[in-house]
This record gives sequence, structure tokens and C-alpha cells, in this order.
Amino acid sequence: MQREKILVTGANGQIGKVLVAALKKLFGNDNIIATDLRADNTYEGIFELLDATDSNTLSKLIMQYQITQIYHLAAVLSAKGETDPTGSWHINMSSTLNVLEAGRIFKLSKVFIPSSIAVFGQSAPKEGVPQSFYPEPATVYGIAKVAGENWGAYYFNKYGLDVRSLRYPGVIGYQSAPGGGTTDYAVDIFHKAIKEKHYTCFLDKGTRLPMIYMDDAIRATLKLMEAPSDQISIRTAYNLQALSFSPEELASEIQQYIGDFSVDYAPDFRQGIANGWPASIDDSIARQDWNWKPAYGLQSLVKDMLDHLIESPQLA
Ligand code: SER
Repeated sequence: MQREKILVTGANGQIGKVLVAALKKLFGNDNIIATDLRADNTYEGIFELLDATDSNTLSKLIMQYQITQIYHLAAVLSAKGETDPTGSWHINMSSTLNVLEAGRIFKLSKVFIPSSIAVFGQSAPKEGVPQSFYPEPATVYGIAKVAGENWGAYYFNKYGLDVRSLRYPGVIGYQSAPGGGTTDYAVDIFHKAIKEKHYTCFLDKGTRLPMIYMDDAIRATLKLMEAPSDQISIRTAYNLQALSFSPEELASEIQQYIGDFSVDYAPDFRQGIANGWPASIDDSIARQDWNWKPAYGLQSLVKDMLDHLIESPQLA
């Protein structure tokens, strides 16, 4: 079997931090090369500075470490993207194309480039959006994700590059902080509940969105990447659904543990982004193709988040 050497972009990001740790467990510390724009001094392992829009440095690192796979997590998320549409388009698209080109040129064995529920817009049904529903995103982040999905399928069909992708819902975890997303409230709320017993939410109380617990998001990613190639019927990006809730539902579950926790609602421009997204998507093809099944629902997610954040105050 080929020994895999895996490069991760955006390794200091919300998903990157946790995924890198999971990949190290699976493939060994020396086989994971974490990269990001900035160094994280607390990180133990092989780390290289990389701006993923810089294809020369990316190629240099691939040759230096004899990389066989890339997980491309670096991206400007939905809310931040709206503050600089053309700049975000450039970062998200040029980095994606650099990774795909590197995959082709260096004949990488697999490439993972995540997509998002943000590919869907107002035209999509609110509940159970089918896998093949035509994506009409309203954010520059969503537009870049749709384009990235199609470029991934193009590299698979034209060059045989084994590109795989998931449409992640909002990801919630205690291990790391999100940044620049519309679903970030669902992580912030836990920290504020513990520290201040109060949270002002930037989305309105009834805004139901698709979400996933970090453990499930990592498990889905690794399951997808481990599946035999002939089981992958979707080469754009798989719909991935775990649970859906609104800020009010999340707050009320947190109140089961922190009775004096209160929330008020001050929707900002992110409400407009959230309004364009579905509340749930249909992931039956992921369930069929590679046995996807989430483990966490709202109650178990809230309990696990609070257990970890209260137990390890340095995380809160
Ligand atoms: N969680 C992301 C965001 O809010 C969606 O993929 O931007």
C-alpha cells in the first residue's frame, strides 16, 4: 500500500485543527503536514506557512514532503466573504484551482475540497433539499463553492483525479473557534453561556439551519475519504445532514444546564445570508453510498459541548 503523506491547508481553522489531529492518529504524526497563513505556536507537529493562493510554494511543499493527498480547508467563509466579494472570490477560487492543478500535475491519490450548504439559495425548498437541486447561491462564498464543486468533478472526469467533497452544514465544536461564518453563533453561544450567562445573537430566534457536531463532521470526512472510489457516485459534493435547529431551540437546550442563561436577538446582515439558506438538506445518497449516519442530536451535542467546555476552562 502506498504510504500517504497528507498536506492540510487552513490547518489552524475551526475544522482544520480537529481534522489534523484525527489524521495524525490515522496516518501517524510524521505523515501530516499542517499549513496555514500564520503559525500557531502551540501546534506540535510538522507545520509550514502557506498562502494557498501561491501555487509555487504549494508545489515546493508537495515535492519537499512527497505529498500524496491534500485536504484543502483554507477559505473565506460566508459572512466575511460579503465584506469583500471580489477579494474573497479570488482567494477561494485561486486556492481551489491551485490544489486541483497540483493534484493533476503531481498525480495525487486523493484530494478533499469541502463545499457547504451555502451552495443553495432562495430558490431551494426550505426542507430536505435534494442532492441534485440546481444551486443558486446568493453569497460570493456560495458561488465559489458551486464553482469549486464543478471544477472538482471536471478534474475527476477529465484527468481521473480522485476529488471528493461534502456540503458541510454549520459545524459546532468545543476544540476550536470558527471565524467569518453565518453559523458561528452556534459556537459563540456556548462560550458566552458559560462566561457571561448572556448572549446577544446575530441571527433571529426562529432561524433554523442545518448543523453538525464536530465529531460527526470529522467522521463524515474520514468515512468519505476512506470509501472505495467506486462507491463515490457524487463527484461535485455530497449533501450532508446531521441536525437542524434555531437559536431559540439551542438556547433552550443550554438552559437545561445553565438555568440563568438568557439570550436576546439583534439580527445583523448575517440574517440576510441565513434567510437564503435551507433549514435541512437531503443526504440520502451519502447514507447509501458510504453509510453516512450522524451520531449527535441536539441534546447529546449540547451535553457534550458543555461537558468539555466546563471541564477544560482553557477552551471556554
Ligand atoms: N458555516 C459556514 C458559514 O457560516 C457555511 O459553510 O459560512
